[in-house]
Amino acid sequence: MRTPFVAANWKMYKTVAETVAYLRDFGTLVSAVDDVEIVVAPPFVGVHAAAEAVRDTRVGIAGQDLHWEREGAFTGEISAGMLKEAGARYVIIGHSERRTKFGETDEHVNRKVKAAVGAGLTPIVCVGETLEEREREQTLSVLDRQLRLGLDGLSADTVAALAVAYEPVWAIGTGRNATSAQAQEAHAHIRDRLREWFGAEAGDSCRVLYGGSVKPANTRELVSQADVDGALVGGASLDAKAFAEIVAASRPGRI
Ligand code: 13P
Repeated sequence: MRTPFVAANWKMYKTVAETVAYLRDFGTLVSAVDDVEIVVAPPFVGVHAAAEAVRDTRVGIAGQDLHWEREGAFTGEISAGMLKEAGARYVIIGHSERRTKFGETDEHVNRKVKAAVGAGLTPIVCVGETLEEREREQTLSVLDRQLRLGLDGLSADTVAALAVAYEPVWAIGTGRNATSAQAQEAHAHIRDRLREWFGAEAGDSCRVLYGGSVKPANTRELVSQADVDGALVGGASLDAKAFAEIVAASRPGRI
């Protein structure tokens, strides 16, 4: 039985003050939830304050990216160890916005995943096809390439403990979510591949999250699919009440 996993990706939204105020409200709203792994990823500058704000709660904090080197002359970058020291327990890696707007490759993703694991952070590894790729019926082959290269060289135990987020690029920020059947097809494929490459136990334990226009109203339908273990939420997570509703709709008893 996989524990549902729901993560907020705030992207480049919310100041430190806004982060702390949100988490105060949100902490109250989800205080009774003990059966969902809940993660919030603020911009880098808010990570430390966020980690302080959720101390003694079940909410974990994530970075939205990292650099694979431990330290060095990499202006503007942040290492896994720095994120960890600031209080993060997770890190999002390979988001499609990083891939399309900042030239991130599958090889970069692989280095970042290894750096994160080496520092004791849990990676949330994002994969997903563009609209053009879907229309050309390349969805599953794109997922295969992103997963094979992105997770290359990892142990079964590592894969079992991380999360993969399936985020079809055409569903991000568009208000057009994948149907639950489209999500289930991609998620089942991802899990089959993980089982094939890393063993049945790793494939069965790895949480596969859906991302792309998740809202309180469509969460239950999506997470009721057998291989959809939770959500990675952008826009709707900026509102504490809406994100708390998404968490509530993901609870195992509610599905
Ligand atoms: P939206 O929920 O705004 O579509 O964003 C999804 C996303 O990119 C989460 O990482």
